[in-house]
Amino acid sequence: MIKRKRIAELIESNDFGSEVTIMGWVKTKRDSKGGFSFLEINDGSTIKNIQVIAEGTMANYTDEILKLTTGCSVIVKGILAESPGKGQRIEVQATEVNVAGWTDPDTYPLQKKRHSFEYLRTIAHLRPRTNTFGAVARIRNALSYAIHSFFQERGFLYLHSPIITGSNCEGAGDMFKVTTLDLQGLKNKGGEVDFTGDFFGKPANLTVSGQLEAEVYALALGNVYTFGPTFRAENSNTYRHLAEFWMVEPEMAFCDLKENVDLGEALIKSTLAYILTNCKDDIDFFNSFVDKNLISTIDTIINNDFERLTYTEAIEILLKAKKQFEFTPAWGSDIQSEHERYLCEYFKRPVAVTDYPKEIKPFYMKVNKDNKTVKAMDILLPGIGEIIGGSQREDVYDTLLNRIKEASLDPADYWWYLDLRKHGTAIHSGFGLGFERLMQLVTGLSNIRDVIPFPRTPKNLEF
Ligand code: 4AD
Ligand code: MG
Repeated sequence: MIKRKRIAELIESNDFGSEVTIMGWVKTKRDSKGGFSFLEINDGSTIKNIQVIAEGTMANYTDEILKLTTGCSVIVKGILAESPGKGQRIEVQATEVNVAGWTDPDTYPLQKKRHSFEYLRTIAHLRPRTNTFGAVARIRNALSYAIHSFFQERGFLYLHSPIITGSNCEGAGDMFKVTTLDLQGLKNKGGEVDFTGDFFGKPANLTVSGQLEAEVYALALGNVYTFGPTFRAENSNTYRHLAEFWMVEPEMAFCDLKENVDLGEALIKSTLAYILTNCKDDIDFFNSFVDKNLISTIDTIINNDFERLTYTEAIEILLKAKKQFEFTPAWGSDIQSEHERYLCEYFKRPVAVTDYPKEIKPFYMKVNKDNKTVKAMDILLPGIGEIIGGSQREDVYDTLLNRIKEASLDPADYWWYLDLRKHGTAIHSGFGLGFERLMQLVTGLSNIRDVIPFPRTPKNLEF
Protein backbone atom coordinates (compact mmCIF):
# COMPACT_ATOMS: atom_id res chain seq x y z
CA MET A 1 0.00 0.00 0.00
CA ILE A 2 1.15 3.52 -0.76
CA LYS A 3 1.96 5.44 2.39
CA ARG A 4 -0.51 8.25 2.63
CA LYS A 5 -0.60 11.32 4.80
CA ARG A 6 -3.83 12.23 6.56
CA ILE A 7 -5.00 15.77 5.89
CA ALA A 8 -5.44 16.40 9.64
CA GLU A 9 -1.71 15.89 9.99
CA LEU A 10 -0.70 17.79 6.84
CA ILE A 11 -2.53 20.99 7.69
CA GLU A 12 -0.46 21.27 10.87
CA SER A 13 2.79 20.45 9.06
CA ASN A 14 5.65 22.80 8.21
CA ASP A 15 7.43 20.24 6.11
CA PHE A 16 7.42 22.42 3.00
CA GLY A 17 9.14 20.90 -0.01
CA SER A 18 8.48 17.32 1.11
CA GLU A 19 6.74 14.82 -1.14
CA VAL A 20 3.32 13.66 0.10
CA THR A 21 0.55 11.34 -1.02
CA ILE A 22 -3.04 12.07 -0.07
CA MET A 23 -6.17 10.04 -0.74
CA GLY A 24 -9.68 11.35 -0.46
CA TRP A 25 -12.75 12.73 -2.18
CA VAL A 26 -13.10 15.85 -4.30
CA LYS A 27 -15.21 18.46 -2.53
CA THR A 28 -14.95 21.08 -5.27
CA LYS A 29 -12.92 21.84 -8.38
CA ARG A 30 -12.24 25.20 -9.93
CA ASP A 31 -10.50 25.58 -13.29
CA SER A 32 -8.35 28.68 -13.71
CA LYS A 33 -8.07 30.64 -16.92
CA GLY A 34 -4.33 30.23 -16.52
CA GLY A 35 -4.70 26.58 -17.60
CA PHE A 36 -4.55 24.81 -14.23
CA SER A 37 -7.10 23.63 -11.64
CA PHE A 38 -7.70 23.92 -7.91
CA LEU A 39 -9.06 20.82 -6.17
CA GLU A 40 -10.41 20.85 -2.64
CA ILE A 41 -9.86 17.38 -1.18
CA ASN A 42 -11.27 15.93 2.02
CA ASP A 43 -10.25 12.57 3.50
CA GLY A 44 -12.44 12.50 6.62
CA SER A 45 -9.59 13.02 9.08
CA THR A 46 -10.65 16.63 9.67
CA ILE A 47 -13.41 18.97 8.62
CA LYS A 48 -10.79 20.99 6.74
CA ASN A 49 -10.02 20.36 3.08
CA ILE A 50 -6.60 20.58 1.52
CA GLN A 51 -6.07 22.56 -1.66
CA VAL A 52 -4.36 20.77 -4.53
CA ILE A 53 -2.96 22.63 -7.56
CA ALA A 54 -3.02 20.53 -10.74
CA GLU A 55 -1.04 22.04 -13.62
CA GLY A 56 -2.34 21.87 -17.18
CA THR A 57 0.93 20.23 -18.22
CA MET A 58 0.05 17.00 -16.43
CA ALA A 59 -0.42 14.06 -18.82
CA ASN A 60 -4.04 13.31 -17.82
CA TYR A 61 -5.09 16.96 -17.37
CA THR A 62 -7.55 17.21 -20.27
CA ASP A 63 -8.80 13.62 -20.22
CA GLU A 64 -9.27 13.25 -16.49
CA ILE A 65 -8.51 16.18 -14.20
CA LEU A 66 -10.76 18.59 -16.10
CA LYS A 67 -13.58 16.01 -15.83
CA LEU A 68 -13.35 15.58 -12.06
CA THR A 69 -16.52 16.50 -10.15
CA THR A 70 -17.64 16.60 -6.52
CA GLY A 71 -17.57 13.10 -5.02
CA CYS A 72 -14.82 11.52 -7.18
CA SER A 73 -12.12 9.72 -5.21
CA VAL A 74 -8.51 10.56 -5.99
CA ILE A 75 -4.94 9.69 -5.07
CA VAL A 76 -2.71 12.74 -5.28
CA LYS A 77 1.06 12.82 -5.16
CA GLY A 78 2.71 16.18 -4.81
CA ILE A 79 4.90 18.64 -2.98
CA LEU A 80 3.75 20.36 0.20
CA ALA A 81 4.04 24.12 -0.22
CA GLU A 82 3.14 27.35 1.52
CA SER A 83 0.01 28.68 -0.10
CA PRO A 84 0.10 32.19 -1.52
CA GLY A 85 -3.72 32.24 -1.76
CA LYS A 86 -6.20 33.37 0.86
CA GLY A 87 -8.04 30.88 3.08
CA GLN A 88 -5.37 28.26 3.53
CA ARG A 89 -1.86 28.11 4.91
CA ILE A 90 -0.63 25.19 2.85
CA GLU A 91 -1.36 23.47 -0.42
CA VAL A 92 -0.18 20.48 -2.41
CA GLN A 93 1.39 21.11 -5.81
CA ALA A 94 0.41 17.92 -7.57
CA THR A 95 2.87 15.85 -9.56
CA GLU A 96 0.30 13.10 -10.17
CA VAL A 97 -3.49 12.97 -9.79
CA ASN A 98 -4.91 9.48 -10.17
CA VAL A 99 -8.63 8.98 -10.23
CA ALA A 100 -9.65 6.06 -8.02
CA GLY A 101 -13.40 6.29 -8.61
CA TRP A 102 -15.63 8.42 -10.84
CA THR A 103 -19.13 9.60 -10.12
CA ASP A 104 -21.84 10.91 -12.36
CA PRO A 105 -22.56 14.53 -11.41
CA ASP A 106 -26.14 14.14 -12.63
CA THR A 107 -26.88 11.39 -10.13
CA TYR A 108 -24.44 12.10 -7.25
CA PRO A 109 -26.82 13.46 -4.62
CA LEU A 110 -24.36 15.61 -2.68
CA GLN A 111 -23.92 18.80 -4.59
CA LYS A 112 -22.29 21.90 -3.19
CA LYS A 113 -25.52 23.42 -1.87
CA ARG A 114 -26.73 22.69 1.64
CA HIS A 115 -29.16 19.81 2.01
CA SER A 116 -31.82 19.40 4.68
CA PHE A 117 -31.18 16.89 7.47
CA GLU A 118 -34.42 15.12 6.47
CA TYR A 119 -33.11 14.58 2.96
CA LEU A 120 -29.70 13.46 4.18
CA ARG A 121 -31.35 10.78 6.35
CA THR A 122 -32.63 9.19 3.14
CA ILE A 123 -29.05 8.89 1.86
CA ALA A 124 -27.43 7.67 5.09
CA HIS A 125 -24.84 5.79 2.98
CA LEU A 126 -23.48 9.09 1.62
CA ARG A 127 -24.20 11.56 4.40
CA PRO A 128 -20.90 10.90 6.23
CA ARG A 129 -19.24 12.73 3.32
CA THR A 130 -20.91 15.99 4.32
CA ASN A 131 -19.24 18.39 6.75
CA THR A 132 -21.97 17.89 9.35
CA PHE A 133 -21.98 14.10 9.39
CA GLY A 134 -18.21 13.79 9.15
CA ALA A 135 -18.02 16.02 12.23
CA VAL A 136 -20.70 13.97 14.02
CA ALA A 137 -18.72 10.79 13.36
CA ARG A 138 -15.46 12.28 14.66
CA ILE A 139 -17.14 13.70 17.76
CA ARG A 140 -18.92 10.39 18.45
CA ASN A 141 -15.56 8.67 18.32
CA ALA A 142 -13.91 11.22 20.63
CA LEU A 143 -16.83 11.18 23.06
CA SER A 144 -16.63 7.38 23.33
CA TYR A 145 -12.92 7.66 24.05
CA ALA A 146 -13.54 10.38 26.68
CA ILE A 147 -16.09 8.14 28.42
CA HIS A 148 -13.74 5.19 28.56
CA SER A 149 -10.90 7.43 29.79
CA PHE A 150 -13.10 8.91 32.51
CA PHE A 151 -13.87 5.49 33.96
CA GLN A 152 -10.48 3.91 33.35
CA GLU A 153 -8.73 6.79 35.14
CA ARG A 154 -10.97 6.16 38.14
CA GLY A 155 -10.32 2.41 38.28
CA PHE A 156 -13.67 1.26 36.87
CA LEU A 157 -13.73 -2.07 35.08
CA TYR A 158 -15.36 -2.18 31.63
CA LEU A 159 -17.98 -4.92 31.62
CA HIS A 160 -19.50 -6.49 28.51
CA SER A 161 -23.10 -7.05 29.53
CA PRO A 162 -25.16 -9.36 27.31
CA ILE A 163 -27.29 -8.11 24.41
CA ILE A 164 -29.72 -11.04 24.52
CA THR A 165 -31.45 -11.46 27.87
CA GLY A 166 -34.18 -13.51 29.52
CA SER A 167 -34.99 -10.82 32.08
CA ASN A 168 -36.53 -7.39 31.82
CA CYS A 169 -34.61 -4.69 33.66
CA GLU A 170 -37.07 -1.85 33.41
CA GLY A 171 -40.08 -4.11 34.00
CA ALA A 172 -41.86 -2.51 31.07
CA GLY A 173 -43.38 -4.15 28.03
CA ASP A 174 -41.24 -2.46 25.40
CA MET A 175 -38.77 -5.22 24.49
CA PHE A 176 -37.82 -6.66 21.11
CA LYS A 177 -38.26 -10.42 21.01
CA VAL A 178 -35.43 -12.68 19.87
CA THR A 179 -36.51 -15.97 18.40
CA THR A 180 -35.66 -18.67 15.88
CA LEU A 181 -39.23 -19.98 15.85
CA ASP A 182 -40.96 -20.24 12.50
CA LEU A 183 -43.29 -17.27 12.82
CA GLN A 184 -45.23 -18.20 9.67
CA GLY A 185 -46.00 -21.62 11.11
CA LEU A 186 -46.98 -20.16 14.48
CA LYS A 187 -49.57 -17.93 12.96
CA ASN A 188 -51.64 -20.85 11.78
CA LYS A 189 -51.71 -22.79 15.03
CA GLY A 190 -53.09 -20.03 17.25
CA GLY A 191 -53.21 -20.19 21.03
CA GLU A 192 -50.19 -20.01 23.35
CA VAL A 193 -46.71 -19.95 21.91
CA ASP A 194 -44.65 -22.97 22.92
CA PHE A 195 -41.20 -21.54 23.66
CA THR A 196 -39.70 -24.94 24.58
CA GLY A 197 -38.91 -25.39 20.92
CA ASP A 198 -37.30 -21.95 20.65
CA PHE A 199 -33.53 -21.42 20.59
CA PHE A 200 -33.20 -20.79 24.33
CA GLY A 201 -36.19 -22.92 25.35
CA LYS A 202 -37.80 -19.82 26.83
CA PRO A 203 -38.67 -16.27 25.74
CA ALA A 204 -35.68 -14.08 24.96
CA ASN A 205 -35.33 -10.36 24.32
CA LEU A 206 -32.86 -7.69 23.29
CA THR A 207 -31.68 -5.94 26.42
CA VAL A 208 -33.15 -2.60 27.50
CA SER A 209 -30.29 -2.03 29.97
CA GLY A 210 -27.18 -3.81 31.22
CA GLN A 211 -27.86 -2.72 34.77
CA LEU A 212 -28.85 -6.03 36.39
CA GLU A 213 -25.73 -7.75 35.08
CA ALA A 214 -23.61 -4.72 36.05
CA GLU A 215 -24.92 -5.07 39.63
CA VAL A 216 -23.67 -8.67 39.67
CA TYR A 217 -20.14 -7.53 38.80
CA ALA A 218 -20.20 -4.42 41.01
CA LEU A 219 -20.99 -6.70 43.96
CA ALA A 220 -17.78 -8.61 43.23
CA LEU A 221 -15.39 -6.11 41.66
CA GLY A 222 -16.47 -2.80 43.20
CA ASN A 223 -16.81 -0.30 40.37
CA VAL A 224 -17.79 -1.36 36.86
CA TYR A 225 -19.37 0.23 33.79
CA THR A 226 -21.01 -0.99 30.62
CA PHE A 227 -21.11 0.91 27.34
CA GLY A 228 -23.10 -0.76 24.64
CA PRO A 229 -26.24 -0.82 22.53
CA THR A 230 -29.63 -1.11 24.20
CA PHE A 231 -33.03 -1.57 22.59
CA ARG A 232 -36.50 -0.24 23.26
CA ALA A 233 -39.54 -1.13 21.20
CA GLU A 234 -41.46 1.90 22.43
CA ASN A 235 -43.47 3.44 19.64
CA SER A 236 -42.31 7.00 20.25
CA ASN A 237 -41.48 9.18 17.29
CA THR A 238 -39.73 12.04 19.06
CA TYR A 239 -36.55 14.07 18.67
CA ARG A 240 -34.91 12.18 21.54
CA HIS A 241 -35.96 8.53 21.25
CA LEU A 242 -34.37 5.74 19.24
CA ALA A 243 -35.28 2.05 19.16
CA GLU A 244 -31.53 1.25 19.29
CA PHE A 245 -29.33 3.55 21.33
CA TRP A 246 -26.08 3.36 23.25
CA MET A 247 -26.05 3.58 26.99
CA VAL A 248 -23.23 4.12 29.51
CA GLU A 249 -24.01 2.40 32.80
CA PRO A 250 -21.68 2.67 35.77
CA GLU A 251 -22.51 0.59 38.85
CA MET A 252 -20.71 1.07 42.16
CA ALA A 253 -20.69 -1.03 45.33
CA PHE A 254 -20.61 0.84 48.66
CA CYS A 255 -21.95 3.96 46.94
CA ASP A 256 -25.07 5.88 47.94
CA LEU A 257 -27.45 8.14 46.03
CA LYS A 258 -25.51 11.35 46.65
CA GLU A 259 -22.22 9.88 45.43
CA ASN A 260 -24.11 8.54 42.42
CA VAL A 261 -25.32 12.05 41.48
CA ASP A 262 -21.77 13.37 42.01
CA LEU A 263 -20.40 10.81 39.56
CA GLY A 264 -23.02 11.67 36.95
CA GLU A 265 -22.16 15.35 37.20
CA ALA A 266 -18.42 14.65 36.98
CA LEU A 267 -18.90 12.37 33.95
CA ILE A 268 -20.87 14.97 32.00
CA LYS A 269 -18.47 17.81 32.82
CA SER A 270 -15.32 15.83 32.13
CA THR A 271 -16.44 14.46 28.76
CA LEU A 272 -17.72 17.88 27.61
CA ALA A 273 -14.39 19.47 28.54
CA TYR A 274 -12.55 16.76 26.58
CA ILE A 275 -14.58 17.49 23.45
CA LEU A 276 -14.09 21.27 23.68
CA THR A 277 -10.32 20.78 23.84
CA ASN A 278 -9.90 17.91 21.40
CA CYS A 279 -12.55 18.47 18.73
CA LYS A 280 -12.11 22.19 18.30
CA ASP A 281 -12.61 22.45 14.52
CA ASP A 282 -15.74 20.31 14.57
CA ILE A 283 -17.24 22.14 17.56
CA ASP A 284 -16.50 25.49 15.92
CA PHE A 285 -18.36 24.23 12.85
CA PHE A 286 -21.46 23.30 14.88
CA ASN A 287 -21.23 26.59 16.77
CA SER A 288 -21.27 28.50 13.46
CA PHE A 289 -23.81 26.48 11.48
CA VAL A 290 -26.10 24.66 13.91
CA ASP A 291 -26.33 26.53 17.22
CA LYS A 292 -24.65 29.89 17.77
CA ASN A 293 -24.84 29.41 21.56
CA LEU A 294 -23.35 25.92 21.53
CA ILE A 295 -19.97 26.68 23.07
CA SER A 296 -21.39 29.05 25.67
CA THR A 297 -24.04 26.47 26.65
CA ILE A 298 -21.37 23.81 27.09
CA ASP A 299 -19.17 26.24 29.04
CA THR A 300 -22.05 27.07 31.39
CA ILE A 301 -22.63 23.38 32.08
CA ILE A 302 -18.95 22.76 32.76
CA ASN A 303 -18.52 25.78 35.03
CA ASN A 304 -21.60 25.60 37.28
CA ASP A 305 -22.65 23.18 39.98
CA PHE A 306 -25.69 21.13 39.02
CA GLU A 307 -28.79 22.05 41.02
CA ARG A 308 -30.01 19.24 43.30
CA LEU A 309 -33.56 18.95 44.55
CA THR A 310 -36.07 16.27 45.44
CA TYR A 311 -39.02 15.31 43.29
CA THR A 312 -41.32 16.79 45.94
CA GLU A 313 -39.49 20.15 45.75
CA ALA A 314 -39.59 20.00 41.95
CA ILE A 315 -43.36 19.50 41.96
CA GLU A 316 -43.75 22.48 44.31
CA ILE A 317 -41.80 24.67 41.89
CA LEU A 318 -43.88 23.42 38.94
CA LEU A 319 -47.14 24.05 40.78
CA LYS A 320 -46.08 27.63 41.52
CA ALA A 321 -45.07 28.23 37.89
CA LYS A 322 -47.06 30.86 36.04
CA LYS A 323 -46.75 28.79 32.89
CA GLN A 324 -49.68 26.80 31.47
CA PHE A 325 -48.48 23.20 31.04
CA GLU A 326 -50.08 20.67 28.76
CA PHE A 327 -49.84 18.11 31.60
CA THR A 328 -50.74 19.61 34.97
CA PRO A 329 -47.97 18.74 37.43
CA ALA A 330 -49.13 16.64 40.37
CA TRP A 331 -47.36 14.71 43.13
CA GLY A 332 -47.42 11.10 42.01
CA SER A 333 -47.31 11.78 38.26
CA ASP A 334 -44.22 11.60 36.12
CA ILE A 335 -42.24 14.72 35.32
CA GLN A 336 -42.98 15.40 31.63
CA SER A 337 -40.50 16.82 29.17
CA GLU A 338 -42.18 20.26 29.31
CA HIS A 339 -41.62 20.17 33.11
CA GLU A 340 -38.00 19.14 32.63
CA ARG A 341 -37.49 22.11 30.33
CA TYR A 342 -39.10 24.45 32.83
CA LEU A 343 -36.91 23.24 35.70
CA CYS A 344 -33.69 23.70 33.69
CA GLU A 345 -34.77 27.19 32.63
CA TYR A 346 -35.80 28.03 36.19
CA PHE A 347 -32.34 27.19 37.55
CA LYS A 348 -30.44 28.04 34.33
CA ARG A 349 -28.26 24.95 34.74
CA PRO A 350 -28.52 21.14 34.79
CA VAL A 351 -30.78 19.78 37.49
CA ALA A 352 -30.62 16.49 39.43
CA VAL A 353 -34.04 15.42 40.73
CA THR A 354 -34.06 12.69 43.39
CA ASP A 355 -36.48 10.68 45.53
CA TYR A 356 -39.41 10.04 43.20
CA PRO A 357 -42.66 8.34 44.25
CA LYS A 358 -42.09 4.60 44.23
CA GLU A 359 -45.19 3.91 42.11
CA ILE A 360 -43.69 5.58 39.03
CA LYS A 361 -40.21 4.01 39.27
CA PRO A 362 -38.91 0.46 38.62
CA PHE A 363 -38.76 -2.30 41.24
CA TYR A 364 -35.01 -2.20 41.81
CA MET A 365 -34.81 1.29 43.34
CA LYS A 366 -34.14 1.51 47.09
CA VAL A 367 -37.27 2.38 49.07
CA ASN A 368 -36.85 5.36 51.41
CA LYS A 369 -37.81 5.29 55.12
CA ASP A 370 -41.04 7.18 54.29
CA ASN A 371 -42.11 4.08 52.31
CA LYS A 372 -43.49 6.47 49.67
CA THR A 373 -40.43 7.47 47.69
CA VAL A 374 -37.41 5.69 46.26
CA LYS A 375 -33.75 6.72 46.00
CA ALA A 376 -34.06 7.56 42.31
CA MET A 377 -32.18 10.24 40.43
CA ASP A 378 -32.66 11.82 37.04
CA ILE A 379 -30.27 14.41 35.63
CA LEU A 380 -31.94 16.93 33.33
CA LEU A 381 -30.06 19.13 30.88
CA PRO A 382 -31.15 22.41 29.33
CA GLY A 383 -32.54 21.80 25.85
CA ILE A 384 -32.16 18.02 26.14
CA GLY A 385 -34.22 17.01 29.16
CA GLU A 386 -33.43 13.69 30.85
CA ILE A 387 -29.92 12.53 30.06
CA ILE A 388 -29.30 10.29 33.06
CA GLY A 389 -31.63 7.97 34.95
CA GLY A 390 -30.39 6.00 37.92
CA SER A 391 -30.78 5.13 41.59
CA GLN A 392 -29.43 3.58 44.70
CA ARG A 393 -30.51 -0.08 44.42
CA GLU A 394 -32.70 -2.01 46.85
CA ASP A 395 -30.20 -4.06 48.84
CA VAL A 396 -32.63 -5.68 51.32
CA TYR A 397 -33.92 -9.08 50.21
CA ASP A 398 -37.48 -8.94 51.57
CA THR A 399 -38.14 -5.41 50.35
CA LEU A 400 -36.87 -6.27 46.87
CA LEU A 401 -38.98 -9.44 46.74
CA ASN A 402 -42.08 -7.41 47.61
CA ARG A 403 -41.31 -4.78 45.01
CA ILE A 404 -40.90 -7.45 42.31
CA LYS A 405 -44.28 -8.92 43.25
CA GLU A 406 -45.93 -5.49 43.38
CA ALA A 407 -44.66 -4.85 39.84
CA SER A 408 -46.43 -8.09 38.75
CA LEU A 409 -43.09 -9.61 37.79
CA ASP A 410 -42.27 -13.26 38.48
CA PRO A 411 -39.65 -13.57 41.28
CA ALA A 412 -38.52 -16.84 39.67
CA ASP A 413 -37.19 -14.83 36.70
CA TYR A 414 -35.06 -12.73 39.08
CA TRP A 415 -33.75 -15.52 41.34
CA TRP A 416 -30.10 -14.67 40.75
CA TYR A 417 -30.71 -10.93 41.18
CA LEU A 418 -32.47 -11.61 44.49
CA ASP A 419 -29.72 -14.03 45.51
CA LEU A 420 -27.19 -11.18 45.51
CA ARG A 421 -29.12 -9.70 48.45
CA LYS A 422 -28.74 -12.96 50.39
CA HIS A 423 -24.99 -13.28 50.02
CA GLY A 424 -22.88 -10.31 51.06
CA THR A 425 -25.30 -7.59 50.03
CA ALA A 426 -24.08 -3.98 50.07
CA ILE A 427 -25.39 -0.51 49.46
CA HIS A 428 -24.84 0.11 45.77
CA SER A 429 -25.86 2.59 43.09
CA GLY A 430 -25.60 3.28 39.41
CA PHE A 431 -27.12 5.09 36.48
CA GLY A 432 -27.58 5.02 32.74
CA LEU A 433 -26.53 7.89 30.51
CA GLY A 434 -28.04 8.09 27.04
CA PHE A 435 -25.02 8.46 24.77
CA GLU A 436 -26.96 9.96 21.85
CA ARG A 437 -28.51 12.58 24.12
CA LEU A 438 -25.00 13.62 25.17
CA MET A 439 -24.13 13.74 21.46
CA GLN A 440 -27.12 16.05 20.90
CA LEU A 441 -25.86 18.35 23.62
CA VAL A 442 -22.33 18.45 22.21
CA THR A 443 -23.35 19.05 18.58
CA GLY A 444 -26.46 21.16 19.10
CA LEU A 445 -28.31 18.86 16.66
CA SER A 446 -31.96 18.83 17.61
CA ASN A 447 -32.92 15.46 16.13
CA ILE A 448 -31.44 12.30 17.72
CA ARG A 449 -31.57 10.60 14.29
CA ASP A 450 -28.69 12.80 13.21
CA VAL A 451 -26.18 11.83 15.91
CA ILE A 452 -26.11 8.05 15.30
CA PRO A 453 -24.83 6.61 11.99
CA PHE A 454 -27.85 4.48 11.16
CA PRO A 455 -30.89 5.45 13.24
CA ARG A 456 -33.50 2.81 14.08
CA THR A 457 -36.96 4.24 14.72
CA PRO A 458 -40.50 2.92 14.15
CA LYS A 459 -40.96 1.93 10.48
CA ASN A 460 -37.39 2.86 9.63
CA LEU A 461 -34.86 0.11 8.96
CA GLU A 462 -33.15 1.17 5.72
CA PHE A 463 -29.36 0.76 5.60
O1 4AD B 1 -33.89 6.12 32.50
P1 4AD B 1 -33.56 4.83 31.82
O2 4AD B 1 -34.67 4.04 31.25
O3 4AD B 1 -32.74 4.00 32.90
C1 4AD B 1 -32.33 2.71 32.79
O4 4AD B 1 -32.44 2.00 31.84
C2 4AD B 1 -31.57 2.22 34.01
N1 4AD B 1 -31.61 0.75 34.02
C3 4AD B 1 -30.16 2.74 33.94
C4 4AD B 1 -29.32 2.37 35.12
O5 4AD B 1 -29.65 2.76 36.23
N2 4AD B 1 -28.23 1.65 34.92
O6 4AD B 1 -32.50 5.12 30.65
C5 4AD B 1 -31.29 5.78 30.92
C6 4AD B 1 -31.02 6.87 29.91
C7 4AD B 1 -32.09 7.96 29.87
O7 4AD B 1 -31.87 8.93 30.86
C8 4AD B 1 -31.89 8.52 28.47
O8 4AD B 1 -30.80 9.44 28.44
C9 4AD B 1 -31.48 7.30 27.69
O9 4AD B 1 -31.01 6.33 28.59
N3 4AD B 1 -32.61 6.74 26.94
C10 4AD B 1 -32.78 6.83 25.61
N4 4AD B 1 -32.03 7.41 24.65
C11 4AD B 1 -32.46 7.34 23.37
N5 4AD B 1 -33.57 6.69 22.99
C12 4AD B 1 -34.37 6.07 23.92
N6 4AD B 1 -35.46 5.42 23.52
C13 4AD B 1 -33.97 6.14 25.28
N7 4AD B 1 -34.49 5.66 26.43
C14 4AD B 1 -33.65 6.03 27.41
MG1 MG C 1 -35.55 7.37 32.84
